Amino acid sequence: NRRVRTRDLLAAKERGERWPMLTSYDQYTAGIFDEAGIPVLLVGDSAANNVYGYASTVSVTEDELLPLVRAVVRSTRRALVVGDLPFGSYEEGPVQALRTGVRFMKEGGCHAVKLEGGVRVAPQIAALTGAGIPVMAHIGFTPQSEHAIGGFRVQGRGDAADEVIADAHAVAEAGAFAVVLEMVPGEVAKRVTHELRIPTIGIGAGAETDAQVLVWQDMAGLRTGKAPRFVKAYADLAGALGDATRAFADEVRSGVFPAQEHTF
Ligand code: KIV
Ligand code: NA
Repeated sequence: NRRVRTRDLLAAKERGERWPMLTSYDQYTAGIFDEAGIPVLLVGDSAANNVYGYASTVSVTEDELLPLVRAVVRSTRRALVVGDLPFGSYEEGPVQALRTGVRFMKEGGCHAVKLEGGVRVAPQIAALTGAGIPVMAHIGFTPQSEHAIGGFRVQGRGDAADEVIADAHAVAEAGAFAVVLEMVPGEVAKRVTHELRIPTIGIGAGAETDAQVLVWQDMAGLRTGKAPRFVKAYADLAGALGDATRAFADEVRSGVFPAQEHTF
């Protein structure tokens, strides 16, 4: 019943066992996912869109993410909790990355951090891991670079595959314990998964990665509006919550709620 460690994830890959990962930003989801046996929870900077209502992840800050990290850590017993370093908190170089990473470990209480980029952030990954902070890398489509990339686009098609593969090797050599592959062709993800000793975590990267991650609101159908093609909704929470809300409102308006049993 102890916490999952990064070495457990490496061992799972060696045994050929796949594992699921979800985002979480609050007490109830963290507790439910932990009880359901999700070994890794990510307090993603996707809280920008899924908690704070920003249009993109670029806007969210360390001060906005850290309380969510603390909430998820407090609400889990087993999951390894990863704190996502927001845009602007590590790009300046290893010194800035280390300062932010230490803040997330100390104030957030998370067990690892994640940052976006391949070759270009290898020095940051080396500095963090050198200081004892486990790092999850994130390559392929990197949402914090949405404006430079020119939208939500699959990365690593055709000749561009070499770049994704070089990024994967760079983050592994720099010491990352796992790497997220976002929106890359299935064939590229498969090759990276075979070439690396560390686990690959796919999102829109096909079926051949060692793990799969989804934003929890996408997984549970709480998202309103069109989801990307790589999402599968396993429930209709938006529908269920809408129904519950309308039922409550109707009963208040009609005087059905509260009834005698709810009254002191
Ligand atoms: O912030 C996030 O939700 C992520 C995952 C989807 C990998 O980075
Ligand atoms: Na993220």
